[in-house]
Amino acid sequence: MASKRGRLDQFIARRLQVSKKAVRQLLIDNKVSVDGKYAKTPDLLIDEFSHIVCNEVVLQQYQKQYYMLNKPDGVVSATIDDKHPTALSLLLGVEHDMLHIAGRLDLHSTGLLLITNDAKWSAALMAPNNKVDKHYIVTLANPIDERYIDAFANGMYFEYENITTLPATLTILSSHQARVSLCEGKYHQIKRMFGRFRNPVVGLHRESIGEIVLDNTLLPGEFRSLTKAEIDCVIQQ
Ligand code: URA
Repeated sequence: MASKRGRLDQFIARRLQVSKKAVRQLLIDNKVSVDGKYAKTPDLLIDEFSHIVCNEVVLQQYQKQYYMLNKPDGVVSATIDDKHPTALSLLLGVEHDMLHIAGRLDLHSTGLLLITNDAKWSAALMAPNNKVDKHYIVTLANPIDERYIDAFANGMYFEYENITTLPATLTILSSHQARVSLCEGKYHQIKRMFGRFRNPVVGLHRESIGEIVLDNTLLPGEFRSLTKAEIDCVIQQ
């Protein structure tokens, strides 16, 4: 989801159904403020979070919102779905306008899901160049062994996308469980990587994305707002 930037005069003209000439007069008369300051220039760039007041009427005042959800099994990482409950439907009491998911999980995967209305923030978090690590606990149907470690580290060729996966770290936790860290998110990536060993994934739980760690006080289906430190750990250009 892209951030929506545009000119102030276009926004007010469209919103109040007045001409751009009328908007210029409002600006000259100090009738328009953006983020608490009188706006003077018609071509001032605003975005969906600019607080815009005209003639003492608030025209736009979206707050940035950031949440972590402990996604339960069977919940779809989407804003709408006609078969399954959606992640957004679990954010009870939260205004859903413009919210989107930063880094989906499959229907049966569980754990950390980040939800925001700040498109610049989620784009920075997910940008391939930023190589933010995502950590998963994976439970397998069959035993795993040391061969998996090198195979994940060397990358695997995916014919459908014609790409080789970036080096991933696999740590064996027990005969049927591993921690996997990836800095990319190809379609069903972890399941497909274990699929190379004909070893079906029976449980996939995301523990963290970059420095944002799933709060272990959240039960499946519970959510909370991110702290300022969690929001600020995402580096935006
Ligand atoms: N890889 C998968 O295969 N599924 C997920 O939900 C996340 C990563």
